Amino acid sequence: MATVFSGVQPSGDYHLGNYLGAFKNWVAVQHENEAFFCVVDLHALTLDIDPSELRERTLDLAVTLLAVGLDPEVVTLFVQSHVPEHPRLAWLLECTATVGELNRMVQFKEKSSGRETVRAGLYTYPVLMAADVLLYQADQVPVGDDQRQHLELMRDLAVRFNNRYGRTFTVPEAVVPKVAARVMDLQQPGRKMSKSIDSPLGTVGLLDAPKDIERKVRRAVTDTDGRVRYDPEAKPGVSNLLELLSAATGVSVEEAAARYDGYGDLKRDVAEALISLLAPIRQRTAELRADLGEVERILTAGADRAHKVASVTYERAAKAVGLFS
Ligand code: TYM
Repeated sequence: MATVFSGVQPSGDYHLGNYLGAFKNWVAVQHENEAFFCVVDLHALTLDIDPSELRERTLDLAVTLLAVGLDPEVVTLFVQSHVPEHPRLAWLLECTATVGELNRMVQFKEKSSGRETVRAGLYTYPVLMAADVLLYQADQVPVGDDQRQHLELMRDLAVRFNNRYGRTFTVPEAVVPKVAARVMDLQQPGRKMSKSIDSPLGTVGLLDAPKDIERKVRRAVTDTDGRVRYDPEAKPGVSNLLELLSAATGVSVEEAAARYDGYGDLKRDVAEALISLLAPIRQRTAELRADLGEVERILTAGADRAHKVASVTYERAAKAVGLFS
């Protein structure tokens, strides 16, 4: 049995990329492993967010994670700020990471570009991520492709800390899905799908109504070549649709491509597959939103369990670097 850890920010706009790149794979591994899943509210403070919105979104993200199928009987689902060892270990790791390493982080460059002021927390963001994972001695971290570089840094920090202070952390591995590791925007297939406010037609939200899913897929940008073929370089729009179909139905992208002569039929089937994929999530979300007390109880129990594991690792790391206790 491996230990699995992953996290998601309470940004309030969950979409197919989150689901196919991450959540679906969390659900798939939860029964065979010791799994920790975390709502990373401290990470959300790295960008501007209204306090009351953050509070609301934190609970609603827990709702979403339960709605996609995480089973609180077998996983530890918790909120990052409820376990104080996360920022405590992050400090020890900030004193392990170098400025040169953080300067190379592509997500930092993307998220900070064009801003007049950039929060220091945005810069050290990947170090807090490393603390998240290393506290639980996780072996595997199921994430989408956009987190690969952060996972590489995390591994480097774990190895460096272990070499400098003695073996303290398990060195974790990124687990990235074979298809839909980078779900692309339906309108701009050259960029990854992200918040719906950035691209209302290009992003399929987990709670989108069937008619909206249908409309977004029908209007998805393809190309003028007219042939259905999987070739992400030459045909990014069509290849994205094939990946969505493959991830939603389980057929391979090549097999899916062979079934269609034109884009119309492909789009019809993609829309249908996505509507059936997301219908149970919508329904379950509505049920859970009606009993938030239960969701809060799950998070309290999760924080208790997480804290027990995290405090053991933190104490070991603090002692290793020579903190007096
Ligand atoms: P976040 O909140 O941006 O996204 C959560 C997960 O969704 C995946 N994802 C995608 N996968 C495929 N296609 C897309 N278009 C797409 N968009 C998002 C992300 O890869 C991620 O797995 N830094 C992390 C949160 C985090 C974390 C951690 C993750 C904090 N601590 C420790 C793993 C381990 C983030 O912002 O993910």
